Amino acid sequence: MRKVILLFFVCMYYRSQAQETAIIPKPVKTEWLKGSFTIDHNTVLVLGEGTEPASGDFFNDYLEKIYGFRLATGKKPGSNYVLLTTRPTVSKPQEGRYELKVSAKSVSINGENPQGTFYAVQTLIQLLPSTPSDNLKIPAVAIEDYPRFEYRGLMLDVGRHFFPVDFVKRYIDYIALHKMNYFHWHLTEDQGWRIEIKKYPLLTEVGSCRNGTIIGHHPGTGNDNIRYCGFYTQDEIRDVVKYAADRYVTIIPEIEMPGHSSAALTAYPWLGCTGGPYQVQQTWGVFKDVYCAGNDSTFAFLQDVIDEVVALFPAKYIHVGGDECPKDSWKTCPKCQKRIKDLGLKDEHELQSYFIQRMEKYINSKGKQIIGWDEILEGGLAPNATVMSWRGEEGGIDAAKQGHNVVMTPGAYVYFDHAQVKNGDTLTIGGFLPLDKVYNYEPVPAVLNADQATHVWGAQANVWTEYMSNIPKVEYMIFPRLSALSEVLWSQKNDRNWTDFQKRMETQYKRYDLWKVNYYKPM
Ligand code: ACM
Ligand code: ZN
Repeated sequence: MRKVILLFFVCMYYRSQAQETAIIPKPVKTEWLKGSFTIDHNTVLVLGEGTEPASGDFFNDYLEKIYGFRLATGKKPGSNYVLLTTRPTVSKPQEGRYELKVSAKSVSINGENPQGTFYAVQTLIQLLPSTPSDNLKIPAVAIEDYPRFEYRGLMLDVGRHFFPVDFVKRYIDYIALHKMNYFHWHLTEDQGWRIEIKKYPLLTEVGSCRNGTIIGHHPGTGNDNIRYCGFYTQDEIRDVVKYAADRYVTIIPEIEMPGHSSAALTAYPWLGCTGGPYQVQQTWGVFKDVYCAGNDSTFAFLQDVIDEVVALFPAKYIHVGGDECPKDSWKTCPKCQKRIKDLGLKDEHELQSYFIQRMEKYINSKGKQIIGWDEILEGGLAPNATVMSWRGEEGGIDAAKQGHNVVMTPGAYVYFDHAQVKNGDTLTIGGFLPLDKVYNYEPVPAVLNADQATHVWGAQANVWTEYMSNIPKVEYMIFPRLSALSEVLWSQKNDRNWTDFQKRMETQYKRYDLWKVNYYKPM
């Protein structure tokens, strides 16, 4: 009997160890060692060779927020330190590669590049206790780690519902805590234009407000008739860009064209085929009034907008939308029809292709590249475009076969606006996307050969906010699915194991509690 009891306690000990050391996404190589290290008030944070302040600051900010104290920075003592260095040790390191060693005396981190050091800090954070504690004992371990995909993205639609800067920053923290590196900021929509453009002040004076919002699921049971407004000033955007850069998160701004443009048309009705009047939309869906493709002043306007966007966002990529553009208004517009005739285009799909290619040329001339939803394949792909495959995987497969880079974001696997619970615990757009379906998603379609597969740059989850009017709802929709996605994107394909992931998630739910976020916990 004594032996059984002893065995029980030994098992419980190892179980609790395993839970406390649950790292998500799973590292490439983890060797648990004997012993432990304790971070206390006397531990020195050493910003060693090559290390940018951002990684040390993030660690100290996290310690302070969750455990109530910061570490003093200083020179390396004989023991009791956390050392961050950043120097290449292999000839062609992956973005984000790092090593982390915890011994009884110290924590030593080396990133092959600044991102690597930052991701090592994220792993170190996950070695800390997952309940509030003064005793920050962490297990001895040696970890070598790097990501599988270069593009690890999360999108937020701030058009349907607007989210303040403070939350956008928190959202970027969630991305960073999951070792992800792209924030796709969907800034313009039918229901609101959210980015200040100095040359066109009506975009925000008029276009950032709608006069009401439908109640309930589309088409709704009425309209709340409450004026709804919101936009980011350029100063705020610069602040967010800097915040993201300190977390090695690149922001890709999206300026939608030619569709989803009601808010811009309402502000400047000459942008549309009929001249209006238009309205900032109060319901969801796809709207027939879009930018006129026959009018040169449309392009002059969009180029001016792009000029200001390029000045704000250092990313190499500008997202130009391209999805869900009905061709109705172009079919009856004399200017659009003239353009089709003059250029010898086959139809309105080729006119859309002309639209995107013309904007691509301009954006390329500014030293930037475009990304677009997979509709940009219709009528001929713009020469240097990256495609976001959302209507399934076909668009991504086509684009990869044509030698274009692809971000996979298929609705069935990574649309976090879909329900997590079968019979609906909260209002959603529809669909059913449980945690295991996200976890088991494979971004590289099996039909691609090895060469084509190299064009799969990564994947991204999309958070469309028609049915997310507040922050707790957004959090509820992203957690825990974001944790599953992070492992899809970061961890080696052969290391993915749903049963093991579920066990590690038990600790991750406690971390969500530490972060004070709202989340769904599957039974
Ligand atoms: C999309 O979901 N309309 C890209
Ligand atoms: Zn037109």
